[in-house]
Amino acid sequence: MDYYNRKMLLKSTGRYIAPWLVKNDDLAQWMDTSDEWIRQRTGIEQRYWVPEDGDIGASDLGLEASKIALERAGWSPEDIDLIIFGTLSPDMHFPGSGCLLQHKLGLDTTPALDIRQQCSAFLYGLTTADAFIRSGHANRILFVGAEVHSPALVKADRGRDVTVIFGDGAGAACLEGVETDEPVGVISSVLHSQGEFARSLMMPLPASRITEEDVREGRHDAYMDGRNIFKTAVRKLPEVANEALEKAGLSIDDIDIIIPHQANLRINQAVQKSMNIPDGKMYNNIHRYGNMTAASIPVALDEAIEEKLVDKGSTVLFLGLGAGLTWGGVIYRHF
Ligand code: ACO
Repeated sequence: MDYYNRKMLLKSTGRYIAPWLVKNDDLAQWMDTSDEWIRQRTGIEQRYWVPEDGDIGASDLGLEASKIALERAGWSPEDIDLIIFGTLSPDMHFPGSGCLLQHKLGLDTTPALDIRQQCSAFLYGLTTADAFIRSGHANRILFVGAEVHSPALVKADRGRDVTVIFGDGAGAACLEGVETDEPVGVISSVLHSQGEFARSLMMPLPASRITEEDVREGRHDAYMDGRNIFKTAVRKLPEVANEALEKAGLSIDDIDIIIPHQANLRINQAVQKSMNIPDGKMYNNIHRYGNMTAASIPVALDEAIEEKLVDKGSTVLFLGLGAGLTWGGVIYRHF
């Protein structure tokens, strides 16, 4: 069969945010921080965490987001050919949360693929889904990005640079192959990784190369060289945006809305400024949720669709950079 004209339609989206509202002032009870510091440095006003009893995992939040996306798509779980699950905070070290979600959806043997691309998970996931669809390997794909960061965050002074940033939530997207000659769906995608900088943002444990020192030093806590990641993001995101635009034969003026990863409002403002992007074209919701890693872009997309900022004919640029390092840009035209 010729799949040349098969394009990937973002059929529907859904989101589910953890229930416990944690404001910046709440964090100041546990660590030396302040609402003022967090707002000024990151733009974050609040985030949502799962309750502390440890009963909710990434697959549970992913399940709730998936139910919404599936209902909006008019799909039953049996319609799914493949699940792609992005998370850095899986329910268990292994197996992947995709398998857990597959079972929770009541499915029997539907394939599930976990991806470990952190804040770039949506970009890698969308590109992978597009390739599966164009090659005819799958026609209906459920992408889920879900994170339960909060149980692993250090709620004390030594973790304050990381803890104040992250929130728990999930975003889901139903992706479907459609035959059309129109220039729609994924127009271009550019993905990068650079393992040289893996240690600038990492959680070393649990791991196959575990030493007594790792355990003694508590290397199951996340480590982030925030300043360096910030500088890298401000440089790499415009670069990759321009690569994706060039590959698509488009200019930034052809883009209706940019939906970037939500790591820091100042990063997105710097990208906006360096690319001369007008206000209103850059979607930000970090003030409400903090950084939800793999969930950030799909949640932002779900909100942008609800607010009619993404509609039929809209050309969207997705951008993100995170641990790995991994980063990328995807241009998608909705139809
Ligand atoms: N409250 C108060 N003070 C704090 C806090 C806090 N929560 N955290 C750090 N500080 C202090 C530091 O100790 C430092 O004090 P000092 O000057 O006395 O040494 C001071 O504030 C400034 O610290 P910086 O790290 O320089 O602050 P910066 O302005 O860089 O902001 C931040 C830190 C928010 C982490 C920023 O660097 C950032 O957003 N980096 C990028 C993060 C990112 O994009 N990550 C990738 C995605 S996440 C993923 O992939 C999993």
